[in-house]
Amino acid sequence: MEKCHCAQITFEKIVETAKQQGQDYRDVVKACGAADTCTACKDYLIAYCEQHLQLVSAG
Ligand code: FES
Repeated sequence: MEKCHCAQITFEKIVETAKQQGQDYRDVVKACGAADTCTACKDYLIAYCEQHLQLVSAG
């Protein structure tokens, strides 16, 4: 899974928005309503965001 199908937003977009706005990805997720309808994407979304944001701060 690479996007939240309910909110129609890709995980990539969430990571990019978090980076651009210097926000916690969880706030971005909340603001766009992702992972809040069927919640099927939730675990994937968290794993994706943590992995990608960690890579960025480590690099
Ligand atoms: S796919 Fe993300 S809440 Fe349903």
